[in-house]
Amino acid sequence: MSKRVIDFEKLEELLKQHDGQMLVFEHGEPRLVILDPKRYPNLFLDKEVNPSGLEEKVRGAKILVTGGAGYIGSVAVENLLASGYDVVVLDNLSSGKASNVSCPLIVGDIGDPKTLDKLFSEHQIDAVMHFAAFVKVEESVKFPEKYFQNNVVNSLALLNSMLKHGVKKLIFSSSAAVYGQPSSIPITEKHPCFPTNPYGESKLMFEKIIQWYSKVHGISAVILRYFNAAGASISGNLGEIREDVTHLIPKVLQVAAQQEEELRIFGQDYPTFDGTAVRDYVHVDDLALAHILALDKLTKDQGVFTYNIGTGTGYSVNQVVDCIMEQTGKMIMTEHAPRREGDPASLVADASLAFSELGFAAQYSDLPTIVDTAWSWHKKRFRL
Ligand SMILES: NC(=O)c1ccc[n+]([C@@H]2O[C@H](COP(=O)([O-])OP(=O)(O)OC[C@H]3O[C@@H](n4cnc5c(N)ncnc54)[C@H](O)[C@@H]3O)[C@@H](O)[C@H]2O)c1
Repeated sequence: MSKRVIDFEKLEELLKQHDGQMLVFEHGEPRLVILDPKRYPNLFLDKEVNPSGLEEKVRGAKILVTGGAGYIGSVAVENLLASGYDVVVLDNLSSGKASNVSCPLIVGDIGDPKTLDKLFSEHQIDAVMHFAAFVKVEESVKFPEKYFQNNVVNSLALLNSMLKHGVKKLIFSSSAAVYGQPSSIPITEKHPCFPTNPYGESKLMFEKIIQWYSKVHGISAVILRYFNAAGASISGNLGEIREDVTHLIPKVLQVAAQQEEELRIFGQDYPTFDGTAVRDYVHVDDLALAHILALDKLTKDQGVFTYNIGTGTGYSVNQVVDCIMEQTGKMIMTEHAPRREGDPASLVADASLAFSELGFAAQYSDLPTIVDTAWSWHKKRFRL
C-alpha cells in the first residue's frame, strides 16, 4: 500500500518561485498560507512536540524496562511509548501489575540468566532502564538478605547478561537513600554516601558495580538518584498501588478516604521550620521525563553520569497534611509518635546538575499537582 506524502524538495522549489510565500485557494476562497520558515523565522516557535522532543531521533530504538509493571516503571513506559520508543518490559510481578503494562511484557526475573538470554536474543535492545528492585526501607532493615539478593545479586545477573549480548547502555534507578544522614542541605551529588539502611546500601553497592563495569567493560550509564517519588500519572491511568503502604502521601490519602482512622506523624521535634520531617517530592511523570533525557545523554556521551532527581524544594509532613486536607476537603486526624531511627530531618536535592547536563526541570512536582493527581487516582482505584 502506498502513502501520499509531501515532496518537500518540490515544495521548497515552488516557494522559491513565489518569493517565499504561497496562498492556496479552494473554491475561490483563500484556504492556506504556506511560508518559507527561512524567510519568516520570527513566525515560528521552536516548540517540542512531545515531553522530550526526541520523537524523530528515537523512532525504532528499543528499550528494555525492568520493573515496568511497577509504580514508576509503568509511568516511564507510558512516556517512552508516547515519545516513539519501542519498549519491552521484564517484570516478575512480585509487586507490579500486568494491567499497568501496555507493551510486550515478559513475566520473569532479572536474576534468571535463561530468561535474560532468551529476551536479549529475541529483542534487539538498545538500552536498559533498570527499575526492578525491592523498595521498602523498613523491610530492608528486617530482611537485609532479601535486599542484597534482589537489588545487588539479581541486578548483577542483568548487567552480565547485557554485556554478554552487547547491550552497553543502562539507566539505573538509584535513590537519595544512598546519602544517609545529610551533613548539608540541599544535597549535591558530591555529598558523601553513608547509607543508614540495607536498601540504601544495596543501591550504593550497585552504583559501584556500574562504575567498575564502565571502567573495565565499557558500560555507559546514567544513575538517577530519585528523591521521593509521588503523584499519579498525568494521563490518569497509572498510580501507586502497594499492599503495605509506607509512603507519606498515599498514607494520608488513605485517611482522607476513611480507609485508615488517623495518620501517625513520626517526630515533631526535628530542627525544621515546623518540627516535622521535610522531603523533596518529585512527580512520577517528571521522573519519567528524567529517564528519557538520560537516554538522550547516552546517545551522545559515554561514561557514568550520576544525577539527583528532585526539585530543590522541601515540604514538611505538616505541609503535606494541610495540602491534602485543602484539596480533598477531608479532615485528617493525626497522632504524634516518636522519631523513627535513621529518619533524617530533611532530605532536599540540589538538582542543578540534572538541569545543566540533562536539561531536566520538573513540571508537575508542585505539591498541589502531586496531591491532585494522587487523589484522583486513589478515588478512581477505590471507586470513591
Ligand atoms: N518510590 C520511590 O519513592 C523511589 C525512590 C527512590 C528510588 N526508587 C527506585 O525506583 C525503582 C522503582 O520503584 P517503585 O516505587 O516503582 O517500586 P515498585 O515496587 O512499584 O516497582 C518495582 C517493580 O520491580 C518488579 N521486580 C522486583 N524485583 C524483580 C525481579 N527480581 N525481577 C523482575 N521484576 C522485579 C516488581 O514486580 C515491580 O513491578 C526501584 O528501583 C526503587 O528502588 C523509588
